[in-house]
Amino acid sequence: MTITNEDELQGLRAVGRIVGNTLQAMARAMEPGMTTRELDAIGRRGLEAEGARSAPEVTYGFPGATCISVGEEIAHGIPGDRVLAAGDLVNIDVSAEKDGFFADTGASFPLGAVRPEVTRLCRDGRRAMQLGIRQVAPGRPLSGIGNAIGRYASGRGYTLIGNLASHGVGRALHEWPEEIATWPNRDRRHIHRGLVLTVEPFLSLGGRFARECGDGWTLRATPRALAVQYEHTVVATDRGPLVVTLPG
Ligand code: CO
Ligand code: CO
Repeated sequence: MTITNEDELQGLRAVGRIVGNTLQAMARAMEPGMTTRELDAIGRRGLEAEGARSAPEVTYGFPGATCISVGEEIAHGIPGDRVLAAGDLVNIDVSAEKDGFFADTGASFPLGAVRPEVTRLCRDGRRAMQLGIRQVAPGRPLSGIGNAIGRYASGRGYTLIGNLASHGVGRALHEWPEEIATWPNRDRRHIHRGLVLTVEPFLSLGGRFARECGDGWTLRATPRALAVQYEHTVVATDRGPLVVTLPG
């Protein structure tokens, strides 16, 4: 969507804060021995307590309130019986609707001690997202997001998952502009004032594409490799990018 007035901005910020707080609450509650279904229940309570509804559930009939992807699963993991263990890399993606506004956020977290390369992947994945967010401003090319992320990733020896794009958001979970590349690209479209979009690169230790792995939802990287995703919903303002999915 394009934000044209203060009421719209307040509506978007309200649901943005809810998904930001829910993601933070889930990350803090995560512990070895817990199932992903139990973790998802914490997310559902966080959304419902604020009068928000899970966006993937209402939009796509996703079987869970949030997407929880563990280990080599990189996105759209279904909450279930899987038991979290120390050393797991866990991605949580929370998107929701309230009062007709949608916001989307996600992050990957190491559970307990992980290999140093996984710690570094998480740190650099967050930096890649932040570099992409810095490219969001009225009049700038959409291609700047993926090109900035691409330069950073290749300079550090990472790959990017090339078929999981960022997207417009605000009045629906996925809306125009669809398919915003978070990898090197020549997109000719430009960002206009008030545009609401996600920035969500998937940085990987070798993966290049996401492939669905048989349950209709869960995505893994191919070639097989760990990947992290960090995502915020951002508004293009005259003062630059305004991130609306921070906890607060
Ligand atoms: Co998301
Ligand atoms: Co998204």
